[in-house]
Amino acid sequence: MRRISKIAGIGLGAVVAVTGAAALAVEIGGIPRYDVERVDLRVERTPARLARGKKLASILCVGCHADPVTGRLTGRPLVDVPAKFGAVTSRNITRHSDKGIGSWTDGEIAYLLRTGVARDGRYLPRNGGCTSVLACPADSGRHLQQEL
Ligand code: HEC
Repeated sequence: MRRISKIAGIGLGAVVAVTGAAALAVEIGGIPRYDVERVDLRVERTPARLARGKKLASILCVGCHADPVTGRLTGRPLVDVPAKFGAVTSRNITRHSDKGIGSWTDGEIAYLLRTGVARDGRYLPRNGGCTSVLACPADSGRHLQQEL
């Protein structure tokens, strides 16, 4: 029994140490940036994809990105995020060429949705959206790109 407690204690200690080291690395070095792979993807727009993209966006993106007044995906302050995380504002993900993501290629959007890394290498950990392959049906990025 004592031996099991000792092993469990060592295991727990190791987890705490690794987590602490990771938190310290982010605290000191900031949120990491990554090299971005260029994805050669061009999505053909079809009415079926548009419809599915609209549905997926309403489930996965609207909650954080829609302006509550206009309903458009122009971003908003996420006031329900606890203050300890600082002020978090979602971004404009409409097709507007400067304010939105209208100048992003299909490949850049797909890359962000799949990896959480934006086209300039910023890692967007607070984008709780569809940034994991596990959470995302294989082709949903294509449908979403049509909707945005
Ligand atoms: C939990 C809230 C949340 C959800 C859900 C969410 N996002 Fe975001 N998104 C954010 C925040 C916050 C940022 C800004 C992150 C930053 O600047 O660090 C962001 C950033 C982005 C950006 C980067 C825009 C830019 O100009 O850099 C894109 C594109 C994006 N989100 C698309 C989506 C899509 C598509 C979905 C749905 C599949 C989605 N997001 C779901 C919160 C969210």
